[in-house]
Amino acid sequence: MLQNNSASRLPLNLDEYAVAAREKLDPMIYDYIAGGADDEVTLRNNRTAYERIALKPRVLVDVSHINLTAELLGTTLAMPVLVSIMATHRLFHEDGEQATCRAAHSMGTISIIGTLSNHTIAEVRETTDGPLWFQLYAYKDMGINRAIIEQGVAGGASALVVTVDTPYLGRRERDLRNQFMLPDDLVTGHLRHLPLSNAQDPTKGAANIFRSYELRSQSITWNDLVTFREMANGLPLILKGILTPEDAKLAVEYGVDAIIVSNHGGRQLDTAIPTIDALPDVVDAVAGRIPVLLDGGIRRGTDVIKALAFGARAVLIGRPALWGLAVNGEAGVKHVLELLRSEIELAMALCGKTSLDDLDRSLLKIYR
Ligand SMILES: Cc1cc2nc3c(=O)[nH]c(=O)nc-3n(C[C@H](O)[C@H](O)[C@H](O)COP(=O)(O)O)c2cc1C
Repeated sequence: MLQNNSASRLPLNLDEYAVAAREKLDPMIYDYIAGGADDEVTLRNNRTAYERIALKPRVLVDVSHINLTAELLGTTLAMPVLVSIMATHRLFHEDGEQATCRAAHSMGTISIIGTLSNHTIAEVRETTDGPLWFQLYAYKDMGINRAIIEQGVAGGASALVVTVDTPYLGRRERDLRNQFMLPDDLVTGHLRHLPLSNAQDPTKGAANIFRSYELRSQSITWNDLVTFREMANGLPLILKGILTPEDAKLAVEYGVDAIIVSNHGGRQLDTAIPTIDALPDVVDAVAGRIPVLLDGGIRRGTDVIKALAFGARAVLIGRPALWGLAVNGEAGVKHVLELLRSEIELAMALCGKTSLDDLDRSLLKIYR
């Protein structure tokens, strides 16, 4: 059970995890997680947008049993929350991605392994049997993309997520101000053996991230998705970073299996639309043909049910998982997910809803 009564009590909610993480982390690393691009307008608005949406609860419904299971690309999730992609988990805790993925699996859900993870998908697979999704940052050299994707396939990934909002890195001024550099002793497993032409020392893995930015592609377009799917041996293909109905329709036309409405947690294009504001038009454009997911600013159970009521199949959390990881490793990530699950259950019950299928737009009042 969750404790809340001792002097060193566990955080009560996801924002308290941010506070606890701040106390523990080097300020530079805290800023690297917490920050966004430019003036951080999108970072803030990802949160405040939820405050403009009110819930209209129904009463006198038997809410003694709440079912939070969600079907997603052939997998049954015990809760409609996944952990989004974040680079270099060993920067925050030595147990790295192995801990994050195990925590997600223990909660019946998935943590997506990134191209820039420290543990490779093969190393994660050694410690857990649960479903693994794998992310690609596209490089100019299709040989590099193939080598990365093949590691995902060999590691047993059941879906390939391609992040499409990062042709260039957003300007994260906290990191510039702090002169933040990832430590060189952090190995980024999937890049380690790659033919990075300018990698001076392949054992200095984290530096490869910075060196690899210039190798990343700025010219990937819709037609390249066919190649990625072929490289992925036909695994379901998910696009992360869709914000418009136009792109959502194109994704369906190009045979994409799911999309993630995301602005990269406000770290890329500042003043980009908050994800919860982008969601309804995207859902309408997709018209039920593929699942729509969302990330950015999810901190409360009520945020989750608002996104699901707009038509998202599930949501993802980013920073809160890293706060949990930094504070207490696998147990911290698990507790973050437990807190969110409890909040979703309570919010569902107080809204008079017993299963995720009951959530629709009649639950929502939007103030503009
Ligand atoms: C420290 C950090 C590293 C991230 N690294 C990646 C990455 O490697 N690939 C990617 O697609 N998104 C990356 N993201 C974006 C997240 O996947 C996600 O879209 C975002 O954090 C969601 O917003 P939230 O943090 O408000 O929940 C990163 C985010 C953070 C905070």
